[in-house]
Amino acid sequence: MIDLKALEEDLREEVSKASSLSQLAQIKAKYLGKNGYITQAIANIKNIPQEERKEYGAKVNKLKEYAENLIRQREEEIRKIELQEKLSKEWLDLSIPLEPAYGTYHPITQTLNRIKEIFISMGFSVMEGPEVELEEYNFDMLNIPKEHPARDMQDTFYVNKEGYLLRTHTSPVQIRTMLSHKPPIYIIAPGKVYRRDDDPTHSPMFHQVEGLVVDKDISFGHMKYTIEVFLREFFEVNVPVRFRASYFPFTEPSAEVDIGCVICNGEGCRVCKQSGWLEVMGCGMVHPAVFESCGIDTEIYSGFAFGMGVERLAMLYFGIDNIKLFFENNIRFLREF
Ligand code: DAH
Repeated sequence: MIDLKALEEDLREEVSKASSLSQLAQIKAKYLGKNGYITQAIANIKNIPQEERKEYGAKVNKLKEYAENLIRQREEEIRKIELQEKLSKEWLDLSIPLEPAYGTYHPITQTLNRIKEIFISMGFSVMEGPEVELEEYNFDMLNIPKEHPARDMQDTFYVNKEGYLLRTHTSPVQIRTMLSHKPPIYIIAPGKVYRRDDDPTHSPMFHQVEGLVVDKDISFGHMKYTIEVFLREFFEVNVPVRFRASYFPFTEPSAEVDIGCVICNGEGCRVCKQSGWLEVMGCGMVHPAVFESCGIDTEIYSGFAFGMGVERLAMLYFGIDNIKLFFENNIRFLREF
């Protein structure tokens, strides 16, 4: 006959010493498992002499119940201890002040947004066109003839499909707008453009904002006023503005717009190459050939157009001397804005 008293004492001692759930599981298997001591004692009941069997059986069953409860209790204790240990290890000081990291818009996006706001406040709408553009819209319909140097493989990214290219300027949006909308037209067209250019002031991808006005009785004076107001709003100072006669195939007459150097106030510096002036955009009265290609009656309508480089304006506004900084995504640079 198994000594139930001794078994109970051994069990109690082992359980009280168990310090982990895996140890406890081993003890449980040892006593209550398939071949466990208590399991064996139960199996043995049938071999006990008749007179003692009842009493012995009751004791064994009580021991089994006792063992189960004892192990369950210890299990709960160990779980509590383990939780306490875990909590004290993973302790977090919630009183440490944390500076939230605020994001900002990229300086080019900020510049684009400011340009849009100024023109929207003057009554312009914003139009967009595709970056993969028809050669016809990018060149032909803008009066840029087949032999024009801009069309050279050296300057333009052509794509595999015949008749398509990565737009070299936002001017094709003028064509798209005039083909799809009747005058009066007052739009700007911001977006990405692509050229085979790569140096500290040129990037193969950059941004432009195109402007187009088509209405009755539009004169060079309207253009001059619009551009001057824009530039003074943009640079937040009353900058001197001058228009220099120039040439673009899609405008006649054409002009280049300079502002008094915002870096040296016109005194002469490295950025303005000692001239005191900075070139900031091109513009002109829409060429009759462009109107005709879009089916706009030049007897009734006239208009002006302009185009500016966003990176160029952002560099002048923020005082940055390398265009590449905008595209490197260096977090220390971006945090400045
Ligand atoms: N498309 C010209 C360029 O990329 C910029 C430009 C000049 C646009 C004069 C115009 C304009 O609309 O009238 O260099």
